[in-house]
Amino acid sequence: MDFLSLAMILNYLHIVLVFLHGRASSAQKTGFTFNGFQSSKLELEGVAVITPNGLLRLTEAKENLTETASHAFYQEPIQFKRSTGGSSFSFSTMFVFAIVPLDQRFTGPGMAFVVAPQRSLPGGQPRQYLGIFNMSNNGNATNHVLAVELDTVHTPEVKDIDKNHVGIDINGVVSAISAPAAYHTEGGAGKLKNLTLKIGQAMQVWVDYDGTERRINVTLAPLEVSRPSAPLLSLAVDLTPVMKETMYVGFSSATSQFYTSHYILGWSFRVNGHAQDLDISKLPKLPRLGKMPAPKMLTIGVPLLSIFSLSILIFGLIYHYRRKMKFAEVLEEWELNYGPHRFKYKDLYIATRGFRDQELLGTGGFGRVYRGTLPTSKIDIAVKRISHDSRQGVREFIAEIVSLGRLRHRNIVTLLGYCRRKGELLLVYDYMQNGSLDKYLFNQPRITLTWSQRFRVIKGVAAGLLYLHEGWDQVVIHRDVKASNVLLDAELNGRLGDFGLARLHDHGTDLHTTHVVGTLGYLAPENTRTGKATKATDVYAFGAFLLEVATGRRPIEPKSTTDAILVDWVFSCWRRGGGILEARDPNLKGDFVVDEVELVLKLGMVCSQSEPKLRPSMRQVVQCLDGDVNIQDLCSLLNTCLNGLKFTSQEEGFDDMVISYPSSSNQTYLASSYITESIISDGR
Ligand SMILES: *[C@@H]1O[C@H](CO)[C@@H](O)[C@H](O)[C@H]1NC(C)=O
Ligand SMILES: *[C@@H]1O[C@H](CO)[C@@H](O)[C@H](O)[C@H]1NC(C)=O
Ligand SMILES: *[C@@H]1O[C@H](CO)[C@@H](O)[C@H](O)[C@H]1NC(C)=O
Ligand SMILES: *[C@@H]1O[C@H](CO)[C@@H](O)[C@H](O)[C@H]1NC(C)=O
Ligand SMILES: *[C@@H]1O[C@H](CO)[C@@H](O)[C@H](O)[C@H]1NC(C)=O
Repeated sequence: MDFLSLAMILNYLHIVLVFLHGRASSAQKTGFTFNGFQSSKLELEGVAVITPNGLLRLTEAKENLTETASHAFYQEPIQFKRSTGGSSFSFSTMFVFAIVPLDQRFTGPGMAFVVAPQRSLPGGQPRQYLGIFNMSNNGNATNHVLAVELDTVHTPEVKDIDKNHVGIDINGVVSAISAPAAYHTEGGAGKLKNLTLKIGQAMQVWVDYDGTERRINVTLAPLEVSRPSAPLLSLAVDLTPVMKETMYVGFSSATSQFYTSHYILGWSFRVNGHAQDLDISKLPKLPRLGKMPAPKMLTIGVPLLSIFSLSILIFGLIYHYRRKMKFAEVLEEWELNYGPHRFKYKDLYIATRGFRDQELLGTGGFGRVYRGTLPTSKIDIAVKRISHDSRQGVREFIAEIVSLGRLRHRNIVTLLGYCRRKGELLLVYDYMQNGSLDKYLFNQPRITLTWSQRFRVIKGVAAGLLYLHEGWDQVVIHRDVKASNVLLDAELNGRLGDFGLARLHDHGTDLHTTHVVGTLGYLAPENTRTGKATKATDVYAFGAFLLEVATGRRPIEPKSTTDAILVDWVFSCWRRGGGILEARDPNLKGDFVVDEVELVLKLGMVCSQSEPKLRPSMRQVVQCLDGDVNIQDLCSLLNTCLNGLKFTSQEEGFDDMVISYPSSSNQTYLASSYITESIISDGR
């Protein structure tokens, strides 16, 4: 590197340094720009602070009954005159402010831009004096104070025009000129748009003094509006007597009992030139929605929100609890074995659409029966709701029910499973489209079955009962064979339902008085005497059923005084010589097979004999109905003869029974007795 190059570099550096120094010193003297006050040189007085995000806050809307002045001055002195005798320089300033009161109706005094001889305003008082002047120095020319006030209180004693005005004050709070806060919109000086100073939003102010023209202008505009072409205030005044050689510039406000925040967001100033425009995007943000809505949020919003959330929570819990209760089931450990047979109450609830009355199929002695469709499998079901109030015996009963659920026969209604709730048992069966047989027999003439249909049903029920008695690894006594317990499927096949249910009534009663279960007219005499249900008692009931189907009459007609007992009546018809066919259902008209009707009536009577030993077995009954065995041969096989049949008048056995006459054939009646027996007996 040669000497010449080094000299050139040093020379260059010197020029740069001189330039930077000159620039720095001139900037310091003639002006400044603050987009926010984070790194500003300000002298603060009173409660004025720079907030962490760079706002200059002269006063805060906060409870403080001490009314004091608050000031903020730019620390450096500004030269306003070349010498003591010279005239005042031109200057220009621009700032963004916001007045945010706690309550729009009551606000603090407002604020002012000030040019003062010191970095403070000693003796400045609050209220109408805006922290600048006091009672004794107000209006005194020795003050040397210029102020541009943004006044939000109407104080007539200082000649305020209203409570929302801008004014130019020289040495006192009585403005030299003032105007309601407003700005000129595009289109000239004529169109003024009002502004509310204490609205809580940032606004811009320009103050321009022309030293040669001797005129001071004040312009106001909302933050989002660019500088209006015409000023709001324009006052011809020579500030030379007001200004000293060096002055300080700043802001003043005062606290008051009407809590108001006074903010300055940004500020630029320049002597002998235009104040630099502020970069609005760099200005610090005002506290959200000012100070005003915050306490409301806290005092009203937060409690409301909490109450709302709490109610939602409570309602949620209640809903959850009620839902849980609604679908609550009783499930004990021993039942886990029956898993596949166990139904969810919720599924049954959905299937039956909440056990609606529209889904009610009928009401029987054991409870209500509802129609339904299982949600996932779409299988049609019938749900029998049985209320039981005893815990005792339920276990055995469920065991039996579940074992019965394994029975499968085309003439037996399949038990699909069960569900248990508190005090309630729900049994789920295959749905039988055509309902129970009795409505076809007794609701006539609305619906009637032809003889061939009836005969098919009879043969079906006989086959079903035979299966219960002999077709399974255990003997099952039905205990309640009757027309209303015979259900018809889609093809009008007769299917036995409700087997085993009679057993339920044995549970939950004390050991000494138990019940004979069955239906009046179907109960074999020995059953009412001993309470013992056997295959023979089922055959007796089946006999009554045969007569019922063939004659279209109930086994006991409670309303008629004579011929109340069906067996007696059929027997007397036969004896009268008119022939047994006279007993047939008149609704059959001529449409029947004579041999079949005769067979059914005679077989019905053979089954209805009072002596159990003389009754045929279900196997013999089926053989007879199929025509494999002649009825005469059957009688001789049983050591009885058709003409010598013996019937015990049904009333005989009822002496010690509590009888209520059936109002509906669906009713099942109970009678007191002493012995209980399981529906499942071990022998065959
Ligand atoms: C109330 O005002 C006084 C005087 O300016 C000040 O010292 C005090 O800190 C203020 N209190 C509050 C809570 O702002
Ligand atoms: C008013 O302010 C001046 C200073 O400007 C001070 O000397 C004077 O004591 C003050 N008077 C009152 C009543 O506060
Ligand atoms: C103005 O203030 C000065 C000094 O504070 C005082 O001497 C003078 O009497 C005051 N003038 C009036 C009119 O109050
Ligand atoms: C603007 O404010 C002035 C003074 O407060 C009032 O007389 C005038 O009616 C207002 N104009 C509008 C448009 O509100
Ligand atoms: C003040 O306003 C008047 C009228 O709009 C204008 O003629 C003048 O130039 C303005 N002076 C300054 C210093 O802005």
